[in-house]
Amino acid sequence: MTQLQKEAIWTSKWRCPSNIALVKYWGKRDFQKPMNQSLSFVLQNSFTETSVDLYLGGDQKVEFYFEGLPSTFNERIENYLAQVAIRMHWIEKYNFRIHSRNSFPHSAGIASSASSFGALALCLAELHFAISGKAPDTPKLWRKASELARLGSGSACRSIYPGFSIWGNAQLFESCSDDYAIPLYEGISPLFYSLRDAILIVDPGIKEVSSSRGHSLMNEHIYQPSRIAQAHQNINELYLALLTGNKENFIAVVESEALSLHALMMTSNPSYLLLKPNTLELISRIRKFREMAQIPVCFTLDAGPNIHLLYFKKNEPEVKAFIESELLGFCENQHWIDDCIGKGPERILNIGDINQKDNHLNLKP
Ligand code: PMV
Repeated sequence: MTQLQKEAIWTSKWRCPSNIALVKYWGKRDFQKPMNQSLSFVLQNSFTETSVDLYLGGDQKVEFYFEGLPSTFNERIENYLAQVAIRMHWIEKYNFRIHSRNSFPHSAGIASSASSFGALALCLAELHFAISGKAPDTPKLWRKASELARLGSGSACRSIYPGFSIWGNAQLFESCSDDYAIPLYEGISPLFYSLRDAILIVDPGIKEVSSSRGHSLMNEHIYQPSRIAQAHQNINELYLALLTGNKENFIAVVESEALSLHALMMTSNPSYLLLKPNTLELISRIRKFREMAQIPVCFTLDAGPNIHLLYFKKNEPEVKAFIESELLGFCENQHWIDDCIGKGPERILNIGDINQKDNHLNLKP
């Protein structure tokens, strides 16, 4: 049966943002469970859009298209669907055609697995409720999507909610879980909903170490117990800073977490050094600017050399001038991405109803 002859029985389409961790998830337990808690916020402009069409019949389980072209990800998606099928048996009955595209360039050095698995999981969660004839309320749909996203990429489970979210068992709230992330709404100081993120691309190349390899190095890491304790303490301190609007403590925790992640990589066996000379130059300029201009800016890092420069909307003119005059010279081809805290996923196509109203999930306050 050719692709064009097949008629989709069910279709779902979602847009899901990427997220940046402030307290980092590094190391796994069991299957896709975190060694420590993490806390992140979703971005607004860096997202993936994915559509899933379900068919009966046909000879291929998954056809996966990335930006319109057949992609080599088929096997990863098939393995992922096999995991999901353990929890949702209807997966076995259908074949899948999946189209996906990113808002950010492939070579931007932004990890796309969080937004990709987030978008795919939202489609699967929505299809799950539709096929089983249940009409879930939004929190149920999100929780299901967060759990499914986690099976594909741990950090993806934090991409499902507007604003900030937390993943991993923590004493902070009873509802915290290793299985899915939960949103953090209550009491966050409005200041932090004005966060902006300038992603400074030092090196857009492919990651030197995959995140699964990196996580596995934590199993035998000499600093494993102290890292777990540190993450625990940093979650508490960061949450308190978010509640009280304490910028100084926010900055202290965020930078300490970024450098701790890289310190763990540098001291693992084998060891990885992913920071580049330009990363260090940017860090030292950001710190100097903070001190000299007395403007609250800080940096965080993913498992790579690119800098996420965090600042507040109020300081946008000064910080953008600083980026242009002092930082772009250290970015590959002067490349940076202008992003900010986001409103969360958006449904692009309602199942059985193409009316699109109230698509944005609410960002509080
Ligand atoms: O979701 P993964 O398996 O790609 O791991 C992501 C790990 C970090 O990005 C380094 C940290 C985090 O919490 O997002």
